[in-house]
Amino acid sequence: MVDDPLEWIFARRSIRKFHSNPVEDEKIDLMLQAAMAAPSANNAKPWHFIVVKERQTLNRLAEIHPYAKMCYEATLAIVVCADPAISKHYWQQDCSAATQNILLAGTSLGLGTVWLGVHPRMERKEPIKKFLRVPDELEILSIVAAGYPAKKKQSRTQFDPGRVHNEGW
Ligand SMILES: Cc1cc2nc3c(=O)[nH]c(=O)nc-3n(C[C@H](O)[C@H](O)[C@H](O)COP(=O)(O)O)c2cc1C
Repeated sequence: MVDDPLEWIFARRSIRKFHSNPVEDEKIDLMLQAAMAAPSANNAKPWHFIVVKERQTLNRLAEIHPYAKMCYEATLAIVVCADPAISKHYWQQDCSAATQNILLAGTSLGLGTVWLGVHPRMERKEPIKKFLRVPDELEILSIVAAGYPAKKKQSRTQFDPGRVHNEGW
């Protein structure tokens, strides 16, 4: 566990190996609270979240998504959905901010997490929507796979001064 909130940002790493003990409901609730604390354009909050804990459902997500094999071990997945009718232009950004908040909250709670890209890949989005009974008009931005980490990774910043431009390019 890391105490300094800025350190959580550096400590957050993609974890793809998990222990089998489940994530407590209190922690899931805190991650969802963090998700819904994200900024959103016009405070429109176009998000919906599907919480998946059942082993069979997690396994099916691992089968459907080509880069989600860690879902066979993960004990939790949070599927980040969006209603474009609520925010036509900004749902991707809003739901990305919510996804990042879930990752950071997970790190602060001692969990391992990984962001799984879904939008704009139709071949991922459509079968996942069908499987999870998501209404046609809604979108899926991402999935966060999570659990107690069975692998540790180094904190790091990846800071690159070459990507910083002062007062213009
Ligand atoms: C939009 C997006 C989509 C991603 N999709 C996947 C994915 O499908 N499967 C996966 O294992 N990791 C995925 N990742 C995690 C990246 O591979 C990871 O963030 C990157 O390698 C940097 O490593 P770090 O998260 O440990 O800093 C995704 C990350 C983002 C932001």
